[in-house]
Amino acid sequence: MDVSTKKRTLLKVMVLGDSGVGKTSLMNQYVYMKFNPHYKATIGADFVTKELQIDDKQVTLQIWDTAGQERFQSLGAAFYRGAECCVLVFDVNAHKSFEAMNTWREEFLKQADPDEPDNFPFILLGNKIDMDGGNSRVVSEKQAKEWCAFRGNIPYFETSAKEGYNVDEAFLCVAKTALAND
Ligand code: GTP
Ligand code: MG
Repeated sequence: MDVSTKKRTLLKVMVLGDSGVGKTSLMNQYVYMKFNPHYKATIGADFVTKELQIDDKQVTLQIWDTAGQERFQSLGAAFYRGAECCVLVFDVNAHKSFEAMNTWREEFLKQADPDEPDNFPFILLGNKIDMDGGNSRVVSEKQAKEWCAFRGNIPYFETSAKEGYNVDEAFLCVAKTALAND
């Protein structure tokens, strides 16, 4: 069969986490290979897409960026439904953003209401590991991994949207996880 006529699989992925942790920056680095040091808060939600080939499957990854400031207030529950994977992002230099991961995870499950909440796939990203050469970090890799282990072995990646470190690897895992849940 010709590649162009092959069926594409659309995978919906949500990216959640506190304001300023780097959700938009991670997506811009992944899709456009660009980084903007100036902060501009996301309003509402928007998505970007990335075409991937995973094994013999053509995949369109639809990545939804959300506003950390708004928590779950303005986006309706319908918005979260049908997501195949949820990416939770915190800043390794901001402890509060790590503490908030529980709430984001639980709120997502409440809103998206998946068939099997206990088995719904999340990916955790600890971002901004480049900051101050790692001297300003307050959440250790061990702490983050423990959080993941306690919740059914959630995959964990340490990333830098600024340096592009581990960003492709993290989103490839997101895509594969979403595909497995399709
Ligand atoms: P909201 O849209 O408000 O929810 O924030 P956000 O999570 O989308 O954060 P955003 O990507 O806008 O990044 C916030 C600030 O942190 C910006 O000034 C970015 O340039 C900066 N930033 C993001 N990722 C990194 C990183 O990996 N390293 C460093 N040093 N700065 C980063
Ligand atoms: Mg944003």
